[in-house]
Formats: sequence, C-alpha cells, structure tokens
Amino acid sequence: MEKREELYRGKAKSVYKTDDADRLILLFRNDTSAFDGKRIEQLDRKGMVNNKFNAFIMQKLEAAGIPTQFDKLLADNEVLVKKLDMIPVECVVRNYAAGSLVKRLGVEEGIKLNPYTFELFLKDDAKGDPFINDSHVVAFGWGTAEQLARMKELSLKVNEVLSKLFDDAGLLLVDFKLEFGVFRDGSIVLGDEFSPDGCRLWDKDTKKKMDKDRFRQGLGDVIEAYEEVAQRLGVPL
Ligand code: TMP
Repeated sequence: MEKREELYRGKAKSVYKTDDADRLILLFRNDTSAFDGKRIEQLDRKGMVNNKFNAFIMQKLEAAGIPTQFDKLLADNEVLVKKLDMIPVECVVRNYAAGSLVKRLGVEEGIKLNPYTFELFLKDDAKGDPFINDSHVVAFGWGTAEQLARMKELSLKVNEVLSKLFDDAGLLLVDFKLEFGVFRDGSIVLGDEFSPDGCRLWDKDTKKKMDKDRFRQGLGDVIEAYEEVAQRLGVPL
C-alpha cells in the first residue's frame, strides 16, 4: 500500500490518498483541539493512543455487525480505511447529561437520561457545529431520510455494544459523537474515529472524567487518563 498526497487536514487527523482508489490512510496527529479548533495543543503520545484505541473499538463494532471504515493498522499513528463520502452531520448519543446539553437546557450534569437521547449537529467549525434536526439534513441535501434512519439505527447499536464494553471496564459511557459516510456500494458506514476525544467516559465509582473534558476543562493528565481507559479495556498500546 503506497501513501500518496494529502487529501484533507483536519484538526487532529490528516487523510492521505493511496494507490488503491477505494482506500485512504488516516494519520492521527498529537494535535488536540477544543471549542471548534479555537484551542489546539500538542499532547505527547495522543496520536498513537487514539489510533490504537480507535482500531480496537472499530474491530469490536465490526464483530457486533456494525459496518466500519476500519481496514488495518499500518503504524503507531496510521490506519488504512475504506474511502467514504462523508456526510457532514455529527450524530450524538447521550446516556447521562453533560456538555452542551447541560448548557442548553440548564439541567444538572450527570443525571441519567431515560432512555438515551439522539441529537444531530452540522459539522461546520466556522458556524460552531450548530444543533440541527433531521428535517434540516434532508432539506439541505446533507443526507436522505433513509440514510439518516440508518445512521440513527447504527448509532443506537453502537451505544448498546459500547455501553456494555465500557461498563465491564468500570466506566460510564456518558455520551459520544459518530460520523458516517457512504461507501462506493451506497451503504452507510461508520467513519472518522471512536476515541476519548469524541466521547465522555467517567469512572463508575468516583465519576472521575477520563476523556477530552480533561483538556477542555484544564484538569491535567489528559493522555494519562486515555491510557488508563485503554489499559482497562485491554487495548494493546
Ligand atoms: P457536546 O456535549 O459538546 O454536544 O458533545 C457531546 C459529545 O460529542 C461529547 O462526547 C463530545 C462529542 N463531540 C465531538 O467529539 N466533537 C464535536 O464537534 C462535538 C459537537 C461533540
């Protein structure tokens, strides 16, 4: 597999073409971004930890019947993935109140949501990733009603599989964000990454935050917390 030119540079990952038209390489950098890219810092080992964490989670999801972009790990910071046409919509599932939900509704952080909630955000940093609903997605042509229904179905299945996986490791899966794309056969496939950058994980007993909120809130020991989560799950680093 030959790495060719950079196709796209995101806030934390770079995407490269390869000599195979159906495959891309994702490079996980150490850049750590918060507040829609307004704050970016380099954190040692982050690229490697998130790459390996993501590979572990994506393989668990595939095994549970969820189609993912993951193909194979290439190096500490690189993974080979299927090329998708990404849908510019972020799907957020919440099991406990935190983050923007707490700000928006003024509810107490940590209350259990019964059942989970499913929200959509437009992936657009310049606009601050605004909250949208399914009718906006269809009206503006970001996705069809059928694609959205599948994205929701897959997001809820991911929630089921990962809530159990993290629970077994003594962690609460508070919320998470997923991004999907369309594969060349027209099917909806889970893309982007699943790592502590894009979810909230709290220790079940102490409620210690073990995810990117440590960076957003200046709590320190960010990568140490990611590594502890990886170690509890049995992710080989
Ligand atoms: P929120 O509480 O800020 O809306 O975030 C909900 C979850 O989605 C949280 O785990 C962080 C994740 N997320 C991202 O990873 N990237 C984003 O751009 C947004 C809006 C949320």
